[in-house]
Amino acid sequence: MEIVRTVKDLRAKTRQWRNENQSISFVPTMGALHKGHISLVHNAKSIADKVVVSIFINPTQFNEKNDFSCYPKEEKKDIEMLEKAGANLVFIPTADEMYPKGFSSSVTVSGVSDCLCGGSRAGHFEGVATVVTKLLLQVLPDVAVFGEKDYQQLQVIKRLVQDLDVPVKIVGSPTMREKDGLAMSSRNARLNEKQRHAATNIYAVLNSIAIDASNGLDIEKACEHGKKALIDSGFSYVDYLEIRDAETLEIRKKTIDKQARIFCAAQIGSVRLIDNIAVSF
Ligand code: PAF
Repeated sequence: MEIVRTVKDLRAKTRQWRNENQSISFVPTMGALHKGHISLVHNAKSIADKVVVSIFINPTQFNEKNDFSCYPKEEKKDIEMLEKAGANLVFIPTADEMYPKGFSSSVTVSGVSDCLCGGSRAGHFEGVATVVTKLLLQVLPDVAVFGEKDYQQLQVIKRLVQDLDVPVKIVGSPTMREKDGLAMSSRNARLNEKQRHAATNIYAVLNSIAIDASNGLDIEKACEHGKKALIDSGFSYVDYLEIRDAETLEIRKKTIDKQARIFCAAQIGSVRLIDNIAVSF
């Protein structure tokens, strides 16, 4: 596995692969890798000849300075995990490499970016859309793999790739969960024992709402009960707990007539957790 830190070195390697007719899949990450990321790498490996992984903690997608400065940095461990997972190339650029002096462009995806996390994290999806556009144009992969854990991010990226004619197929990969159902996330490491225990309630609440919704019960009522259950279990704040269309992310208030998902973001201690699941009907 090779490690490159500049766009020039990255392009030299991917150009060589393209000339050899090798297909390329790409997994963008911010590091602090866990089994969820590794499952994305395995998925990427199963669909292309070569796998490129990027590690870049993108400053422009953090709307809170503290969240950015607290973000775990574990480069050595990440590299070992990627080597073991069979990645072929790791791209680890510096902030100056990604945003050189004078950088002044951005990518905005309206509609799917506006609701859910877009409502409470100003500028977050613009930061994500801009860095992902850059990374896709730097790597020029055939396929890029994103986790469904960040389902809204996945829809934002699908939209931008379609709108801007970026020649890449975007693939969503299922959320990896701990044995007790908690969605794997780099943020879980910041939970103390009590918070970690309470955190499992997100998945439990999502499942209970999914059952109610697919049985035709009142969606809004089910979500209200779910919010109360989360607060009672130790969450300080529920940012959202909503059922939305799986593609357009338009809100579903009464009944579901099309593929839908339940989305949740909730705060426990200093940690904001998100999760989502599909609702069958
Ligand atoms: O999902 C993430 O880790 C980040 O948002 C991404 C896609 C790597 C962009 O910085």
